[in-house]
Amino acid sequence: MNMPPQTLLVATNDGVCTVTVNRPDKLNALNAQVMRELDALFEALAADPQVKGVILTGAGEKAFVAGADIAELNAQSPIDGKEHTLRGQRVLERIEGLGKPVIAAVNGFALGGGCEIAMACHLRVASENAKLGTPEVKLGIMCGYGGTQRLPRLVGRGRALELLLTGEMIDAAEAHRIGLVNKVVPRERLLAESEALLRKMLANGPLSLRFTLEAVAQGLETPFDEAQTHEATLFGLICTSEDMKEGTAAFLAKRPAQFKGR
Ligand code: COA
Repeated sequence: MNMPPQTLLVATNDGVCTVTVNRPDKLNALNAQVMRELDALFEALAADPQVKGVILTGAGEKAFVAGADIAELNAQSPIDGKEHTLRGQRVLERIEGLGKPVIAAVNGFALGGGCEIAMACHLRVASENAKLGTPEVKLGIMCGYGGTQRLPRLVGRGRALELLLTGEMIDAAEAHRIGLVNKVVPRERLLAESEALLRKMLANGPLSLRFTLEAVAQGLETPFDEAQTHEATLFGLICTSEDMKEGTAAFLAKRPAQFKGR
């Protein structure tokens, strides 16, 4: 039997699972244990039919996640470094590939690996006190959890390079202005607003959400024509679903749809 996670708090309420990275004394830095536990947890969440969407946040008042654990990085050999990075990339891909919407509720510092994990989530809601950035260059290292790839895809190459090369933090308002976060809300409203946004998505067809996530994620990595063909294939597939019949019939009958994810 799997051990319950020691570094994560996990609570599911009516389809929404809230995952809290829980090392507040180290500003929720991502050590090997946190990464292992996130990996196992997101594997389980993907297979759990009770979980329809996820909110990822950090414990305490100060930080979402202040980065990879610098104490562990300091002791790494080149071989360890490469393996650490490949493992971390796989964990973030698991989050991004969950097949159900994941919102990062960014409640404070989201730096380095913390910013990268927020970017692997599908949407980001930040509290007014949030600070985001990729300070790795100040430590003589660089992003290793996909940050050099996801940041330019989210905010464009120029803005990404400014953040990646200066290592400077930006506040929530600036992160919103450049499209790094979707929304900024008061600290005390962060979890409620994140949940409200998630539930808006969850009111829609689960297969619609899953296939849309897949079309966007895979499409951004393939030539446009191929990506459109993939979109058409997914569209064809969704036409075989009960939810498609229900959603369209409900519209025509002027009643709310009851989706089943089938
Ligand atoms: N890895 C390991 N420990 C970390 C950490 C990280 N990424 N970020 C913070 N911590 C630890 C600190 O070492 C400190 O531990 P201690 O109390 O045992 O000394 C504790 O968390 C609190 O951090 P502290 O620096 O005292 O808080 P602060 O409010 O003065 O500063 C930050 C907050 C976020 C500006 C600062 O902690 C920081 O710069 N962290 C590193 C950010 C970073 O470079 N991330 C990328 C890593 S690849």
